[in-house]
Amino acid sequence: MNKKILILCVTIIASITASANNGIKRQITATTFDQSEDFENWLVNQEYVSWVKLLDNVSPSDSLRGVVIASPSRHDPDYYYHWVRDGALVMNSVVQELEASNYFNPEEINELMFDYLTWVRTIQPKNGPGGLGEAKYFVDGRPYDLPWGRPQNDGPALRAVTLMNWASILWKAGHKDFVLKNLYKAELPAISPIKKDLEYVSHHWQEPCFDLWEETMGDHFYTRMAQLRALRQGALLARAANDISAAEWYSQQAEQISWALGQHFNSSAGYIVTTLNTSRSGLDVATVLALLHTYDPNDPLLSFSNEWVLATVANVERAFERVYTLNQKGYPAIAIGRYPEDVYYGGNPWFLATNAFAEYYYRLRAELSQLSTITITDKNIDFFERLIQDHPLKIHQQLPVDGNLLNKISSKGDEFLKRTRFHIGPNSNSMMEQYQRDHGYQLSAKDLTWSYASFITAMKARAEIKR
Ligand code: NOJ
Ligand code: NOJ
Repeated sequence: MNKKILILCVTIIASITASANNGIKRQITATTFDQSEDFENWLVNQEYVSWVKLLDNVSPSDSLRGVVIASPSRHDPDYYYHWVRDGALVMNSVVQELEASNYFNPEEINELMFDYLTWVRTIQPKNGPGGLGEAKYFVDGRPYDLPWGRPQNDGPALRAVTLMNWASILWKAGHKDFVLKNLYKAELPAISPIKKDLEYVSHHWQEPCFDLWEETMGDHFYTRMAQLRALRQGALLARAANDISAAEWYSQQAEQISWALGQHFNSSAGYIVTTLNTSRSGLDVATVLALLHTYDPNDPLLSFSNEWVLATVANVERAFERVYTLNQKGYPAIAIGRYPEDVYYGGNPWFLATNAFAEYYYRLRAELSQLSTITITDKNIDFFERLIQDHPLKIHQQLPVDGNLLNKISSKGDEFLKRTRFHIGPNSNSMMEQYQRDHGYQLSAKDLTWSYASFITAMKARAEIKR
C-alpha cells in the first residue's frame, strides 16, 4: 500500500478512536479481557496503526534521514536517540515487507532503506567511546558520549543482518552491482557498511560486552546468536562477492561461536541460560528474541521445537507467572517481561516481550506442522504438559502432532496478542515500552518503535501459518 494512503486510512481509524490514552487510565477488570469476537478485525487495524506509528519514528523532521528514534519520549525516559539495535530490528521488519509486500510497494521500502544506509554510513566511521559497538547516537549523527553500558556488540551484528537481508533481495532482483558497490566491497580496511560490521563482529565476538538490556557485562546468548547469524550469512555473501579468504574467516569464526553457544545450555538449570556466570536465574525473554531475530528457514541455527528451547520457554513463563500480580488474576495469557529479576521502572512486562511470545508460538506451530509426532523428553515434558493441561505425559512417549495440538499452539500465540490488546486498551492503539506489573497501565517510553515492530513481525508469523 502507498504510504500516503496507509496514513490516510489510519488517520481515519485514529480519529475514530481519538480518546487515545484514556485506555491506559481505565481500571482493568477481568470482564473487559475477553473481546475475542472482533479479535481478527482488531489485529488488522492494529497492524496498520503499528506501521504508521513505526514510520512516524523513522527520519523525524529534526533528525538526519534514516534515523530510527527508539521513541519520541524526550524525558523520563529520554529515548530520543538512534539505538543501533532498535534501528536494525525495526529496519529488518521493513526489509521483510519487500517480500511480503502487504502494505508498501518496493520503491517505498527501498527509499526507506537508502536513507537507513546513508545514516549507517554516517555513523559507522564516527569513533564513539564504544567503537562500532557504541549503543546509541544523537539524531544528528554524534555518538552518545556520556557514561553508558558499552560496548553492546549485538548492534553491529544485527545491523549487518538487516543490510544483508536487503542485499540478498536486491541481488536476486538483478542489482548485484549496487550491492557490490554500496553494501559489501571485498576490500580491507573495510569501508563498505556490511563488511565493516562483519570485520568488527569476527574480530571482537570473544570479548565480553553489555547485553541487549544494557545492564550486564559478560557473554550473552542473544549477542552470540546475533553474531553467529551475521557471520554465517556474511560467509555466503563474501563468497558470492568473490572475497574467498574473508568467507573462510567468517565461517571459521562462526563455527567457534557455535561452540561457545553450547556453554549456555546449562544442564543443572535444565534450560538455556542467557548470560554465563551470573547469580541470576538466567531466564530471559532474550533467549526467545535470539531465535526470532536470527530466524532463517534456509539455515536454522536452533529449532523452535528444540527440547532446550521448549524447556526455556516453559521456565520463562512460569517465572513471570510467579513474579507479576497481573499474572495471578486468572486472565488467559501470561504477561511477559525481560527477565524475572528486572527492576527497571519497577520491573514490568514489556509489549515487545509479550508480542515475541506470540510470534514464538506461531513459528513453533509452523515448524511442528511438518512432523507427525514429537518425542516427549525430560526437557520438553513440562512445556507440553502446560500446553495440553488435561492429561499427564510420559517421557519417551510419541505425542501425535495433530490438528488439536497445533490449534492449542496457535491459540496460545493469540492469547499473547490478546494480552497486548488488553493493555493497549479499547480507546487506544498506542504501545509504550511497558505495562505495569500489578494493574497493567502502560508506562515508560511512549510509542516505542520496537513495540510496533514486534507486533508487525508477530503478525507476519501468524499470517504464515494461516496460509
Ligand atoms: C537504561 C537501559 O536502557 C535499560 O535497559 C536499563 O534497564 C536501565 N538503563 C537501567 O540500567
Ligand atoms: C532499553 C532496552 O533495554 C534496550 O534493549 C533498548 O535498546 C533501549 N531501551 C532503547 O529502546
